Amino acid sequence: MPPAGHLLVTGGAGFIGSAFVRDVLGRRDGTRITVLDKLTYAGNESNLAAVAADPEQLARYRFVRGDIADPAVVGPLVADAGAVINFAAESHVDRSILDPEAFLVTGVIGVHVLLEACRREAGRAARGERAAAPRLVQVSTDEVYGSIAEGAAREGDPLAPRSPYAAAKAAGEQLARSYHVTYGLDVVITRGSNTYGPYQHPEKLIPLFLTNALDDQPLPMYGDGLQRRDWLYVSDHAGAVEHVLRHGVAGEVYNIPGAAELPNREVIRILLERLGKPWSLVREVEDRPGHDRRYAMDGARIRELGWRNRTPFEVGIAATVDWFRANEAWWRAARSGDWDAYYERQYGARLATSLEA
Ligand code: NAD
Ligand code: TYD
Repeated sequence: MPPAGHLLVTGGAGFIGSAFVRDVLGRRDGTRITVLDKLTYAGNESNLAAVAADPEQLARYRFVRGDIADPAVVGPLVADAGAVINFAAESHVDRSILDPEAFLVTGVIGVHVLLEACRREAGRAARGERAAAPRLVQVSTDEVYGSIAEGAAREGDPLAPRSPYAAAKAAGEQLARSYHVTYGLDVVITRGSNTYGPYQHPEKLIPLFLTNALDDQPLPMYGDGLQRRDWLYVSDHAGAVEHVLRHGVAGEVYNIPGAAELPNREVIRILLERLGKPWSLVREVEDRPGHDRRYAMDGARIRELGWRNRTPFEVGIAATVDWFRANEAWWRAARSGDWDAYYERQYGARLATSLEA
């Protein structure tokens, strides 16, 4: 994949996708990007305001509002692109437990529509009607491995997803892999770790607890808070996806581990310390059903490809806290629309029966 070219970035108005778009366009190497995003509650065009405000970047950028599960929208966009990077997904485990269907529509049917469009373009390339077949990067997650009691998951390990979100992600990447095996499509898959940083929707642990703490509201910690996650800073995740786009071997899967495996209690402690807020805000609430105890991945394969994690957790969390402090209007807007109804459904009864943590 040459450094420049034309990329179709689906889900590019979300948290990680928008970081990818800002970073790639901000490098000013001539790359053009079309973003296709449905703008669900999680998507926000203002995440790309910095691009729109810069004439040089704006000239290489186009935004299309639409659904990856809609072949009429997807077909012409894939026909025009050298590669497709699919970030689009419903991405929150708790919402997948409340309402799984949208996860399957986007995560399985949507991926299928992208694959079919790529297959058609590969056919055109084979007939000499375009220069090369498009590469598809399917952005997946460590959650497809399920809960890892000890050690670290490697790319060849069996998948054992345990939430509707993780099951939809596993189905999507398996479908993508099957198109490589069956049709020879140029597909690469990334499995990223728990990601955090600026522009993350406040439904996820770190921005939820950060913004609740700024408002002196209770922090709903699920169960004993000893579940472990390996935290990956957003620009590292976006950079790893680009590294795999440029250097990954077709048909391969690449784990993208984080920089710090920590129990949730420790993440919350570090966050509260940086904010200067008391532990007494933390409430122990009824656990998430099927809550995965631990995620951990081996990163040897992507390191062999030449990628390195750059951001230690302390550095990333400091930048994240600073960003949310400085961007109150952004997170207040994200906590609007269906937010109050969602919050009540997810946390109302839990907080009413919570314990001191
Ligand atoms: P996000 O929820 O912030 O963004 C998802 C984006 O996809 C939104 O802009 C949304 O509008 C868009 N979208 C949803 N359905 C769509 C559809 N049918 N058609 C077009 N656009 C649609 O998610 P994120 O945290 O940025 O995650 C991006 C990707 O990375 C997802 O595929 C997710 O599974 C994966 N991932 C996330 C993490 C994490 O910790 N956040 C970790 C590993 C992998
Ligand atoms: P989350 O950010 O939802 O990511 P994931 O489920 O993909 O790991 O949650 C991270 C961890 O934080 C996970 O162990 C669940 C826990 N958690 C809470 O304890 N309370 C909450 O309100 C949320 C959203 C998450």
